[in-house]
Amino acid sequence: MNYRVAVIGAGPSGITALKNLLDQGIDAIAFDRNENVGGNWIYSEKESHSSVFETTHIISSKTLSQYEDFPFEEFDPETPDYPSHEVLRNYFQAYARKFNLYPFIRFNTLVKRCEWKGPLEWVITTETEGEERVETFTHLAVANGHHWKPRYPSYPGEFTGEFLHSHTFKKAAPFEGKRVLVIGGGNSACDVAVETSRVSASTSISWRRGYWIAPKFFFGKPSDVVAEGTKWLPLKLRTFFNQILLKIYWGDYKKYGLRPITEPFGSTHPTINDELMHKIRHGKVKPRMDIARFEGNHVVFEDGKKEEYDAVIACTGYWLTHPFFDKDFIDYSSGPVPLYLKMFHPEIDNLYFIGMFQPLGCIWPGAELQSKLMAQEIIGKWNRPKDIKALCEQEVTNPHYHQIATPRHTITVDYHLFIKALKKHLPKSYVSKTPITHPKEPVLN
Ligand SMILES: Cc1cc2nc3c(=O)[nH]c(=O)nc-3n(C[C@H](O)[C@H](O)[C@H](O)COP(=O)(O)OP(=O)(O)OC[C@H]3O[C@@H](n4cnc5c(N)ncnc54)[C@H](O)[C@@H]3O)c2cc1C
Ligand SMILES: NC(=O)c1ccc[n+]([C@@H]2O[C@H](COP(=O)([O-])OP(=O)(O)OC[C@H]3O[C@@H](n4cnc5c(N)ncnc54)[C@H](OP(=O)(O)O)[C@@H]3O)[C@@H](O)[C@H]2O)c1
Repeated sequence: MNYRVAVIGAGPSGITALKNLLDQGIDAIAFDRNENVGGNWIYSEKESHSSVFETTHIISSKTLSQYEDFPFEEFDPETPDYPSHEVLRNYFQAYARKFNLYPFIRFNTLVKRCEWKGPLEWVITTETEGEERVETFTHLAVANGHHWKPRYPSYPGEFTGEFLHSHTFKKAAPFEGKRVLVIGGGNSACDVAVETSRVSASTSISWRRGYWIAPKFFFGKPSDVVAEGTKWLPLKLRTFFNQILLKIYWGDYKKYGLRPITEPFGSTHPTINDELMHKIRHGKVKPRMDIARFEGNHVVFEDGKKEEYDAVIACTGYWLTHPFFDKDFIDYSSGPVPLYLKMFHPEIDNLYFIGMFQPLGCIWPGAELQSKLMAQEIIGKWNRPKDIKALCEQEVTNPHYHQIATPRHTITVDYHLFIKALKKHLPKSYVSKTPITHPKEPVLN
């Protein structure tokens, strides 16, 4: 049987899915509504798929943020420890060029509907420049990303100033001279607060709990590289050491006016930021409690403090969404997400999710390994376990980290444990750096 695989997305996960399918001689096409490779890493001043802003640099260091098939050393040996969005976009596009992926990607094409018809049949409706097209494929790989559909908070009352989500925050300049309130304690909130504080009249940050903040460097090394040195330790011990290190590094949170931390490290997705604490101690960012209500241009906080603001920026995360599936068929937006290795569906054998996990670390090295495993299964060199349903349930009930029950915490994995689990299933010679010469190129249009 000739298999034909559709890949949704040509971001960091979609391109590695495509590359590894083609690598095994499988007929595959990727669809992307963007006009180039890069997904979230294609910065644009206009609202787009991307949620990065002018000054975004990654929070996972280059050492732990590279495809094994295409290390940064090969791309550009001078790549800094924490590359900018622009360097990353170039890296992903260089990967696509190196492995000759461009002829296999249909750009400016939205995947509108995916209908599962049986074990070897998907009917997929796409739209390119207003024209609909229906095609059949044997398998579907979903790599549509999970940081693009804003999740807005809601509060009693109405805010009459400017209200936006971090997805549409593109640069600090428009906030010059304004009184800004940033909501959230994740990486977007802390990055946005630091950036606006450079130009604003005032910047405050509202947290609904205390967060562990990890600096980007320890002892002159990227923090994730330092943490990697303890990956052989049980998670509990790693957590203990991380906490000790962070307590020594920052001292008492009371001195910063921040809410106390009540949960262990890892119980929320880690926030990595060098500048926030400096900005707080320099009086440039003011910590605030959770919001109780809006009253016109005023915000009332849960401790009774009432302040006037010109702009509120909600950095409150993203929905996990698959709008091309019927909601009765697949809807993971409110969790749980019972998928084996965060990619195999318990019942549908010809469906794969690539990159749909939230590591304490980088996404695309794991997406690369998932892609290799998907290809191994399609060519019949690997079989999924028979008890896959039980394994899916097990992943949900025994996650690597027991996290607080907020919407962003449904797909968390520990980077090192996840990579190890995926590698266990792959052949020893899974790294493949040689550019592929494809026997035939698909007719894309
Ligand atoms: C500000 C910010 C900083 C981040 N920093 C890091 C970091 O330091 N390290 C890290 O590992 N992760 C980081 N992330 C997470 C980010 O999700 C990943 O870096 C990475 O982009 C995931 O790649 P992906 O291919 O899975 O998704 P995306 O990059 O989102 O790509 C998905 C692609 O699918 C396409 N697509 C979606 N739906 C459709 C459709 N229906 N039809 C056609 N095409 C479609 C999109 O156009 C897009 O090109 C960050 C996220 C944000 C918002
Ligand atoms: N420089 C970078 O590389 C960078 C920059 C930005 C983002 N990112 C990545 O992008 C992804 C998304 O990050 P994100 O920061 O945008 O989102 P996020 O990780 O989902 O964080 C959302 C934050 O908003 C809070 N929140 C959600 N709803 C709220 C509400 N109703 N009221 C008050 N607070 C609320 C959450 O609180 P809880 O703790 O209670 O859930 C959390 O602190 C992550 O993977 C992140 O690492 C990376």
